Order: sequence, then C-alpha cells, then structure tokens
Amino acid sequence: MRKRLVRKLDLKIALSNVKPHPSPKAFLEQYTITPEVAADLLYLAAYSHDDIIGKTVMDLGCGTGRLAIGSALLGAKKAIGVDIDSAATKTALKNAKRLNVRNKTQWITTNITSIHGDFDTVLQNPPFGVQRRKADRKFLEKALEIGKHVYSLHKSNKDRRFLKTLEKHRSRLIPVSPSPFLKRFIERYDCEIKDVYATLMTIPHLFDFHRKRRHSFPIDLYIIERKEP
Ligand SMILES: C[S@@+](CC[C@H](N)C(=O)[O-])C[C@H]1O[C@@H](n2cnc3c(N)ncnc32)[C@H](O)[C@@H]1O
Repeated sequence: MRKRLVRKLDLKIALSNVKPHPSPKAFLEQYTITPEVAADLLYLAAYSHDDIIGKTVMDLGCGTGRLAIGSALLGAKKAIGVDIDSAATKTALKNAKRLNVRNKTQWITTNITSIHGDFDTVLQNPPFGVQRRKADRKFLEKALEIGKHVYSLHKSNKDRRFLKTLEKHRSRLIPVSPSPFLKRFIERYDCEIKDVYATLMTIPHLFDFHRKRRHSFPIDLYIIERKEP
C-alpha cells in the first residue's frame, strides 16, 4: 500500500473548489461527480491499488475535470481529460489552473470514440444511458480498449431499501456483486472485475424535469483490470 501523502479531507476540499459547468446539457447527462465520491474513488485507486501515482490517467467524459484534477493532485504523471463538449473542457482547463495542476493535465475536446492509445488507468463517470440508451456501454468499451486499469461508475439496480443503507454510510463504499450483464460484457474484452462497490451519488436540481432540489441514488463503482496476454 502507498504512503498517503494527501489527506482525503484535503482532497475533498480541493475538489469542492472545482467550478461547475456554466450551461449543463441534459442530453449529454452533464451531472458532476460529488467531491465525496470523487475523493473515495481516487483514494482507493491511488492508495489501495497504486493506480494513480506516477501513472498516465485518462478521464473519459471529464466534464469540469474533477477526476483528472484529483489524479494530478494525488501525483499522476499526466492526467488527460476528454469531453465532447467544449464548454466542459474550457471549464476543466480553468479549474486545473485554479488548482495549480495545469502542467500535469491536458484537456481534449472530442468524442471518446476517437481516442486511441494505452493508458495505465482510465477513470470515468460516464452518462448512464438515461437520456441516450447505451451511452454508458460506448464508454465502457473504450475504457476497456485503452486502459490497463479501469474505474467506472454505473447505474445501480439496487432497490430503495439499499438507498437507506447507503444514506447511513454516506460517502462509504460498500462491496456488492457485479451485474451479470456487465460481468459478461467486461469478460468479453479479456478483462476481469477486481471489485465492485456501491456508493451514493447526489445531484442538485439541474434540469427542468428534475422534481427535487437534490436527488440521491445508488451507483456502482467497478474496478477492472485487463488480463495479461
Ligand atoms: C455524467 S457527466 C460526468 C462529468 C465528469 N466526469 C464528472 O464526473 O464530473 C458525463 C460527461 O460525458 C460527456 N460525454 C457524453 N458523451 C460523450 C462522448 N461521446 N464523448 C466524450 N464525452 C462525452 C458529457 O459531456 C459529460 O460531461
């Protein structure tokens, strides 16, 4: 296990200084990961799995940049954020400057389908496919193609009782079983699931169709590794 050079609380505070998207679009599902979930994911990747410090990190669908910026703060060699929306990448660049990680980060405006290469670690909080069906699958396919280690957030199929359990353990990661569908999907790419954790995502009222001021729902974090040939 790596020595923890950055306190989780400090990481959360730094990530809470990330400025929001100026005009989020519903069809791109531009919800921002909370500082709590981002810090939990990054801490696990950095200090339990050694997948951040000194590594090249790709943040697919980076939005305002929280995951890439957090990777740079924890000591990634380089963190690259890709988003199809130029307003998102412009905001991410401003955020990287604000948090003094401009030199360690790069921001690219493009569709993830045009990204190729080999990256130590891919992090992603993709669209869950609520607005555009199967949007999440395109992300997972790309992550498994280009990443040796993948941290991917997905919609959970847990029921409301499980939400209560998560609410009691706010920002805690609870081990759960993978969805049989995602397990088969991931294994088809010669990759294996190391762990799956459920956690709680909370999003503020962003779009007209949102009824509540804040909405909390369970999500699953998949930690995946490419099998050695
Ligand atoms: C749920 S948001 C997550 C944003 C950011 N990763 C975060 O967690 O705060 C998904 C992001 O994926 C981007 N996106 C959607 N489809 C994309 C595509 N085909 N290629 C690149 N980015 C895409 C959206 O613009 C949006 O910023």
